[in-house]
Amino acid sequence: MSIIGEDVGGAPSKAADVARYSTPKIDTALPRHLRKILALQDLEEPARRYLPRPIFGYVSGGAETNAALRGNRSAFDELYFRPKSLVDVSKRSTKAALFGHTYNAPFGFSPMGGTSMVAYQGDVVLSRTAAEENLPMIMSGASLTKLEDVRAAGRTAWFQAYLPGETDRIQKLVDRVERAGYDTLVLTVDTPVNANRENNVRSGFHKPLRPTPQLAWDCLTHPSWFFGMLVKTVMNQGMPYFENMGERVPLIAFKAERDRGNRDELNWAHVELMRRIWKGKLVLKGVLNRDVARIARESGVDGVIVSNHGGRQLDYSVAPLRVLPGIAAEAKEMTVMMDGGIRRGTDILKALALGAQFVFVGRPILYATAIGGATGLRHTIKLLREEVSRDMALLGINTLDEMTQEMLMPAHGFDGLTASALVMDRHN
Ligand SMILES: Cc1cc2nc3c(=O)[nH]c(=O)nc-3n(C[C@H](O)[C@H](O)[C@H](O)COP(=O)(O)O)c2cc1C
Repeated sequence: MSIIGEDVGGAPSKAADVARYSTPKIDTALPRHLRKILALQDLEEPARRYLPRPIFGYVSGGAETNAALRGNRSAFDELYFRPKSLVDVSKRSTKAALFGHTYNAPFGFSPMGGTSMVAYQGDVVLSRTAAEENLPMIMSGASLTKLEDVRAAGRTAWFQAYLPGETDRIQKLVDRVERAGYDTLVLTVDTPVNANRENNVRSGFHKPLRPTPQLAWDCLTHPSWFFGMLVKTVMNQGMPYFENMGERVPLIAFKAERDRGNRDELNWAHVELMRRIWKGKLVLKGVLNRDVARIARESGVDGVIVSNHGGRQLDYSVAPLRVLPGIAAEAKEMTVMMDGGIRRGTDILKALALGAQFVFVGRPILYATAIGGATGLRHTIKLLREEVSRDMALLGINTLDEMTQEMLMPAHGFDGLTASALVMDRHN
C-alpha cells in the first residue's frame, strides 16, 4: 500500500514508516514484465516491442525534425536544484489543489487520441484508474470511446475538444459534454491544421487505419497486441469508431476520413461563445505565448495548459518549460498547467517552481496502459508519486507551494558570480 500523498506526520504506522524511508526496489508482487519498470523511461522499450510499428511510431513521434520533441526534454536538463537542509520533512504531502478539488499528486493524464487503439479499453481504464487514484484524466475528443462512457467510468475525467469554427457544432458538443456530467472542458488551440508528421507516412500509419498487406504483417508480427487488443476489442465490442467528432468513422477503413470540420476558422469569438454557453471550468490547451494567456484571462477562461502538444504540431515550437514563468506572470488569477516531456518527479517540481500549478503526462501513461493495463498504470503512478515525495524530502519542503524559483539554478551558472567577475578573472 502506498501512503505517499497522505500526510505522514505524528507517530507513523508501520506502513507509513515503510513509505517514508523505503528505497526503490524490484516489486515482486508485480507481473513479471512490469518488475523492471523502475522509472517512466523504462516503459518505452517494452511498448515499442508490444505495438505494431506504425502505431508505436504514431505515439512516440513528433513533427518534422522532432526538434520540438527533443527540446521538451532538454529544457529540464538546464535546471538544477538548491535544496534546503535540516528541515523536518516528515509531514510532507504531495497533495495539490486544482479548480477547487484536492488531488493526491500534482499530475494527471494528458488527452491522447487513439488511446483505445493502443491499449485494450484504454480510455475507460485511464478514467477509472485516475478516479481511483484521485488524479485528473483528460479524455481526448479524438478518442474511440463515447465521451459519456468515459465520464461514467471515472468522476475525475475532463473532456478535451477539437472544434471547428462553426457555431452550431460548438453548441452541440458543449450540450453533449454538459449532459454527460463533465465539469471541465479543455479546448485544444494548437491544431488549426494537421501537423506534418512524416514519420507516420513512412511507417504507413493513418487514422483511420488502412487495411493493407503491410498492416496485416505488422499485426501478425505483434501477436500480443493483435489478439490482446484488436481481436479482443472487435470480439467484445465490435469495430471501434471515432465517436466524438462529427460523423462517426470506424478505426479501420479503406477510404473514410475523420470529420474535422473547419478547424482553421476557430478564433477568439468561438472561445467567447464557449465561455457564454459552458457553465463549468474552461481551459485552453496548447498555449505558448504570454499574450495568448492574457487574452484568455480577459475572455474569462479559467485555465491554460502550457503545451506544444508533445512536439507533435509545430516543429521548433518552444519547450513549455521555457515559457512558463512569463505565462504564469501574465495569468494572475487564472490557473496555469503544463505538459510536455514530464518523466520524473524532478521534472514536475521544476515546472511547479517556474509557475505551473499542475502538470500532465502523455506518452508514458499510454505505454504503461498498453503493456500492463490498469496494473501497469497504477504502478507508473506510484513510481511518479514516490519520486515527487522523495524529491520533496531531499529538497527540504513539506508542501508543493514551497517550490519557488529560488529553489532552482541554471545548470551552468555559478551562484553569486556575475559575468563581469568572470571576465575580470580571465584578465588577471
Ligand atoms: C498518441 C498521442 C495522441 C495525442 N492526442 C491528443 C489529442 O487528442 N488532443 C490533445 O489536445 N493532445 C493530444 N496529444 C498531446 C498530449 O495531450 C500532450 O500534450 C503531450 O503528449 C505531452 O507530452 P508528453 O507525451 O511528452 O508527456 C497526443 C499525444 C500523443 C502522444
